Amino acid sequence: MFTRRQFIQLCLKGVAAYSLSPLIIPRLAEALENLNKKPVVLWYEANTCAGNVFSFLNTLNPSLLEILEKSIDLRFNNTLMTAEGEQALNILDKTVEEGEYILMVEGTIPTRAGGHYGIAGLRGDKPVTHVEMIEYLGSKAKTIMAIGSCAAFGGPFAAYPNPSHSVSVSKALGRETINVSGCPAHPDWIVGTLSHVILFGKPELGVHNRPVLFYGENIHHRCPRRQMFEDNVFAKHPGDEGCLYLIGCKGPVTSSDCPTRQWIGLHNSWPIGANTPCIGCVNADFPEKSMPFFKHLPDINVTGANIKARTISKVVAGGTALGIGIHFLANLARGRLKLRLKAVEDITKKTQESGDLEDHQQEDDLVEIFEELDVLTKKEEDLKKKLKQLLRKRKSRLKKAKKLKSKSKSKNKSKKEKEITEDE
Ligand code: SF4
Ligand code: F3S
Repeated sequence: MFTRRQFIQLCLKGVAAYSLSPLIIPRLAEALENLNKKPVVLWYEANTCAGNVFSFLNTLNPSLLEILEKSIDLRFNNTLMTAEGEQALNILDKTVEEGEYILMVEGTIPTRAGGHYGIAGLRGDKPVTHVEMIEYLGSKAKTIMAIGSCAAFGGPFAAYPNPSHSVSVSKALGRETINVSGCPAHPDWIVGTLSHVILFGKPELGVHNRPVLFYGENIHHRCPRRQMFEDNVFAKHPGDEGCLYLIGCKGPVTSSDCPTRQWIGLHNSWPIGANTPCIGCVNADFPEKSMPFFKHLPDINVTGANIKARTISKVVAGGTALGIGIHFLANLARGRLKLRLKAVEDITKKTQESGDLEDHQQEDDLVEIFEELDVLTKKEEDLKKKLKQLLRKRKSRLKKAKKLKSKSKSKNKSKKEKEITEDE
């Protein structure tokens, strides 16, 4: 059985080697095989496109089949299971009766009209809503994981004008969930978080209750196009060389390990690597505050009289500008960051060339570097907080000054009126 520290080391090493799965999954499977009983998992799909199940299917080495056979007892999954109707509901009933299971929910929960915008099935003649089902399944679950941005935060289903009054799983339940966001979530984020829950319990959660291990780092910090940003080399169209900031990249306001982990298994790619801006799909306010996806937000053009959309664009523009502002404030830290990134690149290259993934010296070096990066990120976060405080103070001072001005104006006015009345 490997320790939590070793687990985290493997995750970090996975980052540098551009994939978690080949490193961590075999060890996870080995550790799980030693448990007396395979952990019971229910994967429940509410209102969803099923993108996260398909992402989960893309887990590599071992395949999903191996995970299902050796590591977990996945009793329910709307897309993958063959049972349906009463038979499927019986599986849920039996599992709830036993309790102590991990509940993974994908999709949003519509709450309008008593939840009737989302029907899970029939009990006799009576439709059962997703709200009812989630409450029922959540009541005996040991842990609840919200998989994908819809389950975690509401996502596209809950975007303005949200006709079905859809909400996240935690909001529907009024209970904490471990949020594995993304549209869809990366297979490594799903498998890695589930593994941590099974082997060590709840992982360390950061902003919006997401595992720090996968969502702790700002994309802009580790983007390979960062130097182009520094040098003012900006792309004008998707597909161009250069930093994609001016064509709508949300990297500066998005936190995930996409730049280093990358996507699509062995093909090693990700949105920015494929010459298209990051659209902030892991963010709590995705997609509403990311739109339009391919526009530089401060220059956003909103047609019509949609005040909400105008407000949104202002907020996002402010957020992005703040991200960039901080980038200048964190000048000192950045110098060291660059050196560290170079070291990570060198180690990764050496590891890939030698094919020696078991070299513990390299592993230790990487852990050390990532620990240092964490300290730098913390510094940057502190600066961000300070800047926010300053902005807040400035805003309230401006408000006060405005109030005083209008007060003295109305005072002068009534004084004048009094004088006129007296003259008359
Ligand atoms: Fe990379 Fe986007 Fe930042 Fe440019 S703005 S450096 S493309 S994350
Ligand atoms: Fe999503 Fe941006 Fe990563 S769009 S997949 S968070 S690069």
